[in-house]
Amino acid sequence: MSHKIQIADSNINFVAEDGETISQAAEKNGVLLTLGCRMGACGACKSKLCSGEVNYSKKPLALTEEDKKKGMILLCTAVPATDLIIEAKNARRTKKSANRFDVKIVKIVKVSDEILSMTIERVDGQKFDFEAGQVINILLPNGDSRSYSFASPAVQQTTADLYIRHVSNGLFTGLLFNGTVKEGNILKAEAPFGTFTFNTPKDKKAVFLVTGTGIAPVMSILRTLKTNDDLKGRGISLFWGVRHAKDLAFLSELESLAESYPAFKFYPVVSKDENWPGLKGRITKHAAEIIGDFTDCDTYLCGSTPMVNSVTDYLFVRCGLKEDRTFSDAFGG
Ligand code: FES
Repeated sequence: MSHKIQIADSNINFVAEDGETISQAAEKNGVLLTLGCRMGACGACKSKLCSGEVNYSKKPLALTEEDKKKGMILLCTAVPATDLIIEAKNARRTKKSANRFDVKIVKIVKVSDEILSMTIERVDGQKFDFEAGQVINILLPNGDSRSYSFASPAVQQTTADLYIRHVSNGLFTGLLFNGTVKEGNILKAEAPFGTFTFNTPKDKKAVFLVTGTGIAPVMSILRTLKTNDDLKGRGISLFWGVRHAKDLAFLSELESLAESYPAFKFYPVVSKDENWPGLKGRITKHAAEIIGDFTDCDTYLCGSTPMVNSVTDYLFVRCGLKEDRTFSDAFGG
């Protein structure tokens, strides 16, 4: 039996067919939701159920007892049992519809023991069509999928770059990092998805706070702005936190952007490298000191779910972070 899903305080609604999760139904109907692991583990899709009932296709590991008492659900694995009204921050209708296609791995470059860059090419010869900041899903033979942000500019090319962190016990990244999945292999994929896109007007300040491979969608956004000749004069600050200096794969590209575009400020922050001559420790502290007041900024956060939550709380309390001008892309960890 199908059920109607209404996003509260919006004109977005769609229908879930029998057995479909909320996220599957949304994607089929061209509605973008904030998602991370898509398997109930990271909490990125946690949302309030205003009315109705759901069951789960997988155990909702990311929901605490407190969450359940507050009526929170996981959009990635919740299956409607009745018509629903849900709160879903950042939900919007897609500008680009998702398609399934095969991709060939054309290049893998290990950045460090934990991170690699992978270039993929569409086997059908078509061009990748996505908005900067969006993700591609790699479809696994067991029916699961893994989402990775495009790091390349959104300018319709037949190849695209992904920037991938090794997840311990990760099914796909395990095979990738041990060399079982390698250059020349064909993967099934579906794209584009995701709501972490850049919508800040040119006269407004934007601050990016990202950790680790959370830099990938930001690279896509900055490269797209540069390619479209839209970076000049934009007041953008980027704080990128990594553990070790060797993880700063895009350091020279970002430093060169900061030199060419003086309104773009780049702050690499390293937490576990005593010899790093620049900023050390956590990005939150440096962002609070350098930016100070966030009330007039659009703030973009990308990193693990705990990082996104803790940065949001810290800056909300101390620096006037505006909830309705904060955009996040959280992934498991
Ligand atoms: S828990 Fe739903 S996307 Fe991770």
